[in-house]
Amino acid sequence: MNKVEQELEYMEKVKEYHQGKDVKYAIFTMGCQLNENDSEKIEGMLVGMGYTKTEDSKQADIIVYNTCCVRENAEERLFGKLGEIKKQKEEKGTVIAIGGCMMQEKHITEKIKKSYPFVDILFGTHTLYKLPEDIYHILENRKKIEDIAYIDGEVIEGIPIVRGDHIKASVTIMNGCNNFCSYCIVPYVRGRERSRSPRDILEEIESLAKQGYKEVTLLGQNVNSYLRVEREKNIPFEEYRGVNSFATLLREVNKIEGIERIRFVSPHPKDFTQDVIEAIRDCEKVSKIIHLPLQAGSTSVLKAMNRKYTKEQYLELVDKIKREIPHVVFSTDIIVGFPGETQRNFEDTLDVVKKVGYEQVFMFIYSRRVGTPGDKMENQIPEEIKHERFNQLKALVEGQMEEQNKTYIGTVQKVLIEGTSKNNENMLTGRTDSNKVVILEGDKNLIGKMVNLNIISEHMWYLKGEYRG
Ligand code: 5AD
Ligand code: SF4
Repeated sequence: MNKVEQELEYMEKVKEYHQGKDVKYAIFTMGCQLNENDSEKIEGMLVGMGYTKTEDSKQADIIVYNTCCVRENAEERLFGKLGEIKKQKEEKGTVIAIGGCMMQEKHITEKIKKSYPFVDILFGTHTLYKLPEDIYHILENRKKIEDIAYIDGEVIEGIPIVRGDHIKASVTIMNGCNNFCSYCIVPYVRGRERSRSPRDILEEIESLAKQGYKEVTLLGQNVNSYLRVEREKNIPFEEYRGVNSFATLLREVNKIEGIERIRFVSPHPKDFTQDVIEAIRDCEKVSKIIHLPLQAGSTSVLKAMNRKYTKEQYLELVDKIKREIPHVVFSTDIIVGFPGETQRNFEDTLDVVKKVGYEQVFMFIYSRRVGTPGDKMENQIPEEIKHERFNQLKALVEGQMEEQNKTYIGTVQKVLIEGTSKNNENMLTGRTDSNKVVILEGDKNLIGKMVNLNIISEHMWYLKGEYRG
C-alpha cells in the first residue's frame, strides 16, 4: 500500500467515526497560488472524511489554517485568528489544525505551543497528505499532534482535491526551490526543487479539460526550471510524450483539447531560455503576459539578493522577448527596502518599471525573515524610508496602469467569462489574455466561454466590455 492509499483508509475511518453526524469544516488560506492549490487538496481530504464546508467558522467542527510565511504580516494575522478562536475551542471542542509554510519554522511552532496550547494539530508542507491520519488520532485520543518533517519532501500523487472554481484550475508542476534569494524563506520551508512527472501533470490537465475547465495555471516556485534538477543530476524520470523540460511541457499542454488558455507562475529570469520563449511564441493558448519577477532594478541590490542577473541582463531579456513574441506584455514582483538599498539604487527600480511598462506590478515592502541571509545584513532600511519608496513606486505604477488601460479602449479582447460580478449579480466578469478584469452585461450562458469583447471604458481596476454576439 502506498502512502496515499494508507491515508485514504484513514479518511474512511474518520468518516465512520462521524457516521450519522453533520460535521463541518472551515479553512483559511494565506499566501500564494501554490498554497491555495494545497488548500484544495486539504479540502479534498476533509470532504473525503465526511466534512462539509462552512464559511462560518463558528459552525465548524474542525478549523484548518493553511499558513504562509513569506512576509511578516501573515504571522500577525494567524496569531490574531488564534486569539479569537480560543473561546470557541473551550466551549465546543472544535479541532484546530495549522499547516503550511509557517509550520516549518521552529520559532513559530514553539510560540504556538507556548501561547496557544489548545491547538490540536501542527502539520508541515511535507506532511500535508497525512492530515487524515492526524485527524483520526486526534478524534480517537485527543493527544496533540505535531507532524512536521524537516526533509526535502517527495512528490506525493493521488491526494483527493476539491477545486474552488469550475472554469480555471491550478496545477502544481513542481515543488520547492533551489535559488536561495537572500530575502526569501521559501527554500527553507518548501525544500529542494522536485518536479512532478510529465505523465501525472498531463493526465491531470486532460481530466480537467474533460470536466469542462478552460484555463490552467501551471504552478511552481521556479516553473521554468521544471525537470532541470532531474536532467542535471541524472535523476531518472519518465519522459512522456517527449516532455523533458518546461518548454516541451508547454507545447504538450497546448495540444490538450478543451483547454483554451494556459498561464504559469512564477518563472525566474535567469532560467528564461530560448526554448521557453519559442514555446510561448508558438503555443496559441499560452497567455502572452509573462510574469517576470524583477525584485529590484539595481545591479548591486540584485547581487545582494542573489538573483543572478544584472539590471542590463533583465532589460535585455525583456527586449529579446518583446522582439520574438508579438504583443507580449509583462507583470512583475518588486521588493522595496532590501538591506543596503540606497535612494539611487531604488531609482534603478523606478527606471526599469518605466522602461518595461508592466501591466501589473505586485509590490512588497521588504520583510525580515528569520534564517535568511537578508535578516543578518546590517544595513537594514528604516521603516519610514521603505514606506516612502513603496508609495513612490505605487504612484508610478498606478499612473502607468491608467495610461495602459486607456489603450484598451476601442480594442477587441478575447475574454474568458468566469462568472457573475461580485459587486453586481447582473453583470458578468472575465479576464483578458493579459489578465485584466473585464465586466460586461450579458447572458449567464456566456459563463465558461471565451468571447470577443469590445472594450468601451476603463476604471483603474477593471475594464468594461460589450458583447455583440
Ligand atoms: N519581503 C518582502 N517580499 C518578499 N517576497 C519574498 N520574500 C519577501 C520578503 N522577505 C516577495 C517576492 C516574491 C513574492 C512572492 O514575494 O517579490 O516574488
Ligand atoms: Fe524565493 Fe527566490 Fe525561490 Fe522565488 S526563486 S521562491 S523568491 S528563493
